Amino acid sequence: MINRNFRAHWRLDKEIVFLNHGSFGATPIPVMDKQREIQGLIEREPVKFFMRDYEGFYERAQEALAGVVGAERDDIVFVPNATTGVNTALRAVPLSPGDEILVTNQEYNACRNAVNEIAKERKAVVREVRLPFPVKSSEQVTETIVNSLTGRTRVFLIDHIVSQTALVVDIEDIVRELEDRDIETIVDGAHSVGMVPLNLEKLRPAFFTSNCHKWLCTPKGAAFLYARKDMQNLVRPLVISHGANTPRKDKSRFFHEFSWTGTDDPSAYFSIPSAVDFLSSLLPGGLPALMERNRSLCLEARKIIIGALGIEKPCPDEMVGSMASFPLPDAVSEPIAPLFMDELQDELFMRFRIEIPVMYWPKFPKRLLRISCQAYNSMDDYRKLCNALKEAGM
Ligand SMILES: Cc1ncc(COP(=O)(O)O)c(C=O)c1O
Repeated sequence: MINRNFRAHWRLDKEIVFLNHGSFGATPIPVMDKQREIQGLIEREPVKFFMRDYEGFYERAQEALAGVVGAERDDIVFVPNATTGVNTALRAVPLSPGDEILVTNQEYNACRNAVNEIAKERKAVVREVRLPFPVKSSEQVTETIVNSLTGRTRVFLIDHIVSQTALVVDIEDIVRELEDRDIETIVDGAHSVGMVPLNLEKLRPAFFTSNCHKWLCTPKGAAFLYARKDMQNLVRPLVISHGANTPRKDKSRFFHEFSWTGTDDPSAYFSIPSAVDFLSSLLPGGLPALMERNRSLCLEARKIIIGALGIEKPCPDEMVGSMASFPLPDAVSEPIAPLFMDELQDELFMRFRIEIPVMYWPKFPKRLLRISCQAYNSMDDYRKLCNALKEAGM
């Protein structure tokens, strides 16, 4: 495995073993510098920037991202985060009273709340399918989902890469199975771009949203929403602004409505080309090579952690990206207030200076430990984790 000192490109605290890229990402110094440069341009002549230059910056960011996710430029727009992307997509799918929204028991809490709210408004029904974890194969997941569909299922919200279990779900099979039954799929790919290869033109779900501030390492507040062409007439941003009655006919209403939702700082979106360039420059094979390097590191790290915990692989290698989760012995103490934090997470941070999440899943006292593997991590980080777990009595 290629092991270079990429860590120097990040401002991460040298005293901390940082194993939680998954929660909020971490932005490399050159990309942060680019963001500051853009902010400088805005403040040099704000009217010129927003009235004359904004759209060019927007299009260049769309283009850079479209190349990475395999989409047409005009099928993607920016939203501040995946939570906004999911809320927006859910509101676009026509639902009548009694129609079913399908979700899994591994759905991210914020997005599950959005599903519950929209179901309440539309008098729709939320149906939950229980995905196994530990899991044997991708086929087992697809089969479980397909078996839970009913004649009333209209839309399925599925996480591409699950937050708690870190499973990489085979969404291609799932989208095809549902398409055959006229059911729309919304893919919550909060972790996808920069972690796994994407080809949205080929996948063609109704909607796909992904954060750029996680695995593409942009500044916080950058995500995208892909909408299949036939969905672009149905979807509206959560904030209605000038685009709703623009006289311009040169671009779609989808573009005009989403590209301006009121004055804001667009520098995180406009730093996307810089993040793509930076990550692509780290290895000779570009971003695909970096994703492969992070995945290989994750598989290698997973091996030693499984050994240290004395457990079986919770999922096959094919379902691993650059995060992996491990079942731990049940918690014995109540979570620590006020953060509802597990005592082991607190001990790993306070005693060993390791930043890593311990999540209650499916619920307290059951818990999972999740590692992340980004360019700045190396095997040494996971060896330190194994030693700390041993000393903490795991
Ligand atoms: C599956 C999934 N969906 C949505 C989100 C929310 O991301 P954000 O807070 O950036 O909206 C996350 C965050 O980890 C996630 O894992």
